Order: sequence, then C-alpha cells, then structure tokens
Amino acid sequence: KHIKRLSAVLAVCTALSYSAFAADPIVIKFSHVVANDTPKGQGALMLQKLVDERLAGKVKVEVYPNSSLYGDGKEMEALLLNNVQMLAPSLAKFDKYTPKIQLFDLPFLFDDIQAVERFEKSEGGKSLLTSMEDKGITGLGYWNNDLKQLSANKELILPKDARGLKFRVQASEVLDAQFKALKAVPRKMAFGEMYQALQTGTVNGAENPYSNIYSQKVHEVQKYITESNHGLLSYMVIVNTKFWESIPADIRSELSVIVDEVSATVNKHSHELNLADKQKILDAGTTKITTLTPEQREQWREAVRPVWKQFEDQIGADLIKAAEASNK
Ligand code: LMR
Repeated sequence: KHIKRLSAVLAVCTALSYSAFAADPIVIKFSHVVANDTPKGQGALMLQKLVDERLAGKVKVEVYPNSSLYGDGKEMEALLLNNVQMLAPSLAKFDKYTPKIQLFDLPFLFDDIQAVERFEKSEGGKSLLTSMEDKGITGLGYWNNDLKQLSANKELILPKDARGLKFRVQASEVLDAQFKALKAVPRKMAFGEMYQALQTGTVNGAENPYSNIYSQKVHEVQKYITESNHGLLSYMVIVNTKFWESIPADIRSELSVIVDEVSATVNKHSHELNLADKQKILDAGTTKITTLTPEQREQWREAVRPVWKQFEDQIGADLIKAAEASNK
C-alpha cells in the first residue's frame, strides 16, 4: 500500500518536473570575440532577435560579444564542454579538428568574396560543415567577414618590406607559414590581445578585414594599411553536436531555418559593412591606405605561393582545385 502511494507521489513529481522543464526555454549561449558592429556581431544579434520573435518561450539566445565570456583560445573547448552552445569562430581556428579546413587560409585563393560564397555553397564547401561531427562539432553555415588587409607601422608595397617585422596571426599553421614565406615573424595571439600588442610594439603589424581593423581601433596604432586582399576571414557557425541533437525536431528545424536566413543576410551585407569601415578609417585620418598595382600584388602572390604546396597533402589537391574553380 505504502509502495503504491509512494509511486503515485513519485509519478506526480515526475510529471511536475517534466512540465517545469518543458516550460523552461532552451538557452543557447552564443559567445564571440568581435564587436557588435561587425558582420559576426550583427549576425549574432539578428539570430537572437529572430529566435525571440519565432520561438518565444521555447528558445532563448544569449549573446556574449567582445571575448566577454570566452576569448578565442578557450571558446572551442567551452563548446565541447557545453558551457556555450553556439560559436562562429574564424575558419583559421579549426585546424586541430579538421585539417581540410586550412583550405580557406591559403593566401590569394579567392579573387573576391563572391567566389568565396560560390565555394561555400558547393558540394566541397558543404562537406566541410559536417566534417567535425565525430569530434562533437556540427557546422550550420558560413558567415563571411571579408578579405584581409595587411597593416603595419611601416608602408608595405613589396614583399621585401615585410621582412623581419613581427605580425600578429590567428592560431593557424597556414597563416604562420604565410608570414614565414615573407621572412617576417608570425606571433600567434588571441584576438583580444591584438590591440595592446600593436600599441606596445610587441608586434609591428597584423592582417584583418576593415571591419575588425576599425572596430578594434587597429588604425589608431598602425600608420599604414596595404589593401592586399590576400586572404579570407570567414566564420563557421557551429553548435555542440550532442546539444543540437537533443533539441526537439520541430524546434531544431525552425532554428535551422533561422540560421540559414541570418547567414544569407550576413553574407549579403558583410562586404558593404567593410567598405563603410574603410571609409571611416580614411575619415579618421590616422592611417595611409596603400593600394597595389597588379604587378606589385603579383609579387606578393609569388612570395607566399609555396604555402600552397606545403599544405596540399593535408587539405587535398581536389578540394583546392574545387575552390579555385569558384573564381570566375
Ligand atoms: C581574429 O582572431 O583575427 C579573428 O578570427 C577574429 C574574428 O572572430 O573576427
């Protein structure tokens, strides 16, 4: 009798706790390292807004910008521990999980941001989104920032001008090799430490798209920018695979629709945003922006070209060909 009563009480408790659980929204912590007013920052806020509108009470997105929750050295680990559920790290930060993704950092691979989008939508591009599921990371889409420019405290016109200078790089072997090919000195460093390192002279230069240069005030501590468009800064929106699969199917599919919509919007506007930030840098009057003649740019391309061969085995020659084919 006692046991019957006890089990009835337990059943009620279980039902109550389930309904309490169902009433709690699923919280998605989205951590990133850049300012709100950048392609990634804007994307995260748009995602939060659309989820509020369409999945109110069911899902809640919390956005932590500017390395306020985790810096770029720690965020991937935090995702794997489910301390955050969503990130959009730069594609330069995945080489530990899938060496093929190093493709995106090969210097002078893509002619423009349209070519990047074409590749991302191709079979090769899509296959990379699911290439880390065995490690617990699921890719939902690509958000592009823009092509990168070189900045320094010295004007860089030819590759030899970079010799001996110290450059801050993301934690990427390809980017490390790129600066070594220029006989410069790469220093891997978290994004949040870049400004101070440039200000104090720990490093002499860096590579960023205009939106990161402007929002991090890099132009205030760099006298020169060379518009080299030599490499890409793009992101993969990722979730913890187990967490993602634990979301009820109907909610998960609505979330996928929202992410796709945000990705399309981010990618449509990111180049414009970078051009607007270039103008703001010019208006600030702190920094000379040097453009290269086609012949000068060709010299830079030649100087860093050996990097391709160096990483061809890890990336795969076919994938490199597929990416090159997206240049029209
Ligand atoms: C960097 O470290 O330079 C970038 O990956 C930062 C970012 O997320 O745009």
